[in-house]
Amino acid sequence: MNVSEYQLSVSDIQLTGSVARLVLTCETPGDFLYKEGQYLNLVLPGGHKRAYSFASPCRADGTFELHVRLHEGGRFSEMLRKDLQRQYKLTAVGPFGDCLWHPPTHKDAPILMLATGTGIAPLKALLEAELPHCKARVWLYWGCREAADMYLRGYFESLSHRYSHFNFVPVLSRDGSDTQAACGHVQDAAARHHADLSRSHVYACGSPRMIEAAKALLTESHFLRPENFHVDAFEAAWEHGAFADAAPKGEVVELWVTVEGERKKQLLPGGQSLMLALSACGLMHGVCGGRQSCGTCRVVFQESGFRVLKPPSRSEQRLLNTLNNVGPYDRLACQMHVDSQLSGAEIVIPDNPVNRMKQHIA
Ligand SMILES: Cc1cc2nc3c(=O)[nH]c(=O)nc-3n(C[C@H](O)[C@H](O)[C@H](O)COP(=O)(O)OP(=O)(O)OC[C@H]3O[C@@H](n4cnc5c(N)ncnc54)[C@H](O)[C@@H]3O)c2cc1C
Ligand code: FES
Repeated sequence: MNVSEYQLSVSDIQLTGSVARLVLTCETPGDFLYKEGQYLNLVLPGGHKRAYSFASPCRADGTFELHVRLHEGGRFSEMLRKDLQRQYKLTAVGPFGDCLWHPPTHKDAPILMLATGTGIAPLKALLEAELPHCKARVWLYWGCREAADMYLRGYFESLSHRYSHFNFVPVLSRDGSDTQAACGHVQDAAARHHADLSRSHVYACGSPRMIEAAKALLTESHFLRPENFHVDAFEAAWEHGAFADAAPKGEVVELWVTVEGERKKQLLPGGQSLMLALSACGLMHGVCGGRQSCGTCRVVFQESGFRVLKPPSRSEQRLLNTLNNVGPYDRLACQMHVDSQLSGAEIVIPDNPVNRMKQHIA
């Protein structure tokens, strides 16, 4: 992933119920590369940022789609309702995220996709890119409250007619009268049809509550391997514990930090993640708040300091593997605690546009 800042112009807006579908064009299409399943951050006036998943595959002309649920009183939602017109210019930073396609290793094992609401966006991008080549059977379960909320139902039905290996199951949680749709929650509808997911990959996007329930159900009772569960949780920053849990406590740890070529001693209070401690000093901004999906908190250790650290978890290593220019002593600051293992360590914070914009980002 090569994180950059981009200027976008809005070329079209379509409103269906409480969902706005935006078509945007990047002003420098040649540089604008992302992988299906990733997201970007729109930087709103005043520096506030909002994450949105790409709803279409990456194209050479820099045009792409976003699906935005309009929330009452929401900052970007209100901006969309009132101000946003065609030709409107927006700034974005990205791409981020690791809910990427994993080629199936067993053609007989089904691939499951679970979405709630606008969580359909990244799955649509993945399906449009991968369905033409995929040999395995793909099942999409899309959950909404009522039939009227399912703004792309006709599109996915026609896709299931075009590709015989693609099955689309609409799931409604508050409308039992639609005989063409399953009733209840997406994870339960999927679990009813797939007893054995031991060789499957599952992609789940949208509500964090659905993602948590699906992971528990499918790994505990349907043999899904946790590393084959790929997620994009639409959790707002204010809902995410990592930002709230910033109260420092315990010992103060001294380490050396080089940023933009300047090396400085930093005294960081313990009891929090290294990402939060460095953010509090204005030295970095972890876009995803510690959910291990953005990579903007990457730091480079000196070899001697690196060797005394506890090794990275599998999920930290997996995200590091997807980042550009990663060296052997790189770690994610959001996955490390400020404690004695960091005492005297030397770290470099690599340059990236998010860190450059950190003073302006709320
Ligand atoms: C990785 C990722 C990808 C995402 N992709 C998408 C996507 O493709 N499509 C999509 O629609 N959304 C997506 N989201 C969610 C999106 O980023 C925004 O959170 C959402 O659109 C709301 O933005 P907003 O500015 O309109 O509302 P906000 O200003 O964030 O407010 C949202 C709602 O919460 C209320 N609220 C605000 N602050 C608080 C608070 N402190 N306590 C309680 N309530 C509060 C507001 O009144 C409003 O009703 C994604 C999120 C993540 C993390
Ligand atoms: S990976 Fe996003 S903050 Fe660390």
